[in-house]
Amino acid sequence: MGQLFHIEESQYLQSFEHLISSFSVQKYKHKILIVDDEKDNLQLLTRTLRSEYDIITASNGQEALHQVEKYGNDISLIISDQRMPIMSGTDLFAKVRMLYPKIIRILLTGFSDVDILIESVNKCELFQYILKPFEPDELKMIVQNGLRVYDLANNKENLLSDLKELFFTTIKSIASALDAKDPYTHGHSQRVTIYALIIANQLDFAESVLEDIETAGLLHDIGKIGVPEDILRKPGKLTDIEFDLIKQHPARGKQILAGIDKLANIACWVNSHHEKWDGWGYPQKLKGEEIPAAARILAIADTYDAMTSDRSYRKGLPHEVAVEEIKNCSGTQFDPSMVEIFLQVAKVFEQAKENPEKYYQTYSLLNKSISLKKD
Ligand SMILES: [Fe+2]
Repeated sequence: MGQLFHIEESQYLQSFEHLISSFSVQKYKHKILIVDDEKDNLQLLTRTLRSEYDIITASNGQEALHQVEKYGNDISLIISDQRMPIMSGTDLFAKVRMLYPKIIRILLTGFSDVDILIESVNKCELFQYILKPFEPDELKMIVQNGLRVYDLANNKENLLSDLKELFFTTIKSIASALDAKDPYTHGHSQRVTIYALIIANQLDFAESVLEDIETAGLLHDIGKIGVPEDILRKPGKLTDIEFDLIKQHPARGKQILAGIDKLANIACWVNSHHEKWDGWGYPQKLKGEEIPAAARILAIADTYDAMTSDRSYRKGLPHEVAVEEIKNCSGTQFDPSMVEIFLQVAKVFEQAKENPEKYYQTYSLLNKSISLKKD
């Protein structure tokens, strides 16, 4: 019995090893859709490619579109005949290009179609066309090249999106670590970010600038990392020395961020978020438009949140009072044109204050690009 068990056990282990090795040897197979109304042609194409690729077929454009709908971006490449009933190959590709532009498109065509083909090539951005009758080896090579282009494009895209995700999660965790230094400023960085984005969305900023404003909002107080917690949390009046220390945080923030090339502009905005329109802010006493627009937006967002949030020593001010205060400081502390925009969207500030998570989901661009990737 023991022997039998032993044999069974070793057989089990062997087959397990086999299973593991077959998994590791198994290579990812690209899915290729072949579209042709002539059965013989469809079979020949399938025979030529099936050992290396996962082949699906369709006998006309309509059927092909159904396959594309079903498999979406699982399809890496489509080979289609040009002359088919219902829909031509180029018409099919024009539709595929709209739906799934990443799929590589190769057209099979006869000599007599070449003129029409040249006209329609732009319409569907072909990777290549193959003249019939084709050489199987030539076809294999063209397919291989197409898939190489496909892989390169996708790897680059994945790599960029992975980097973006890493960057964003790092920034988010720095922001929450920062907010956690003082329970009374919990969520401050996120709320300032939302408020800044609400204003920025009213202006004609490019998407990449909005992303930078989001990053700057999350990191605007990063320089406080160097300020002792008992000073940050101190309920009473600060001494001059303590206040001086706190006043160093924009410059410290700049120092921290300036080491990263990609964050050079953000570092500059962080440095300027306590500057005042009339030149009485810090650290550089910049005046008017010397202060970067993003920093002028951050200043309003930051002040609104500071006024409306509870502190250890006082309750937060009501929304209306904060709005009045910002209005009164137009032209002294704040850029009048930014205050004007703030007044137009002040209602949204009030709603976002009640439900920051929801509003962050709506306004965040960095978060959105990551959720899109996960979908
Ligand atoms: Fe600050």
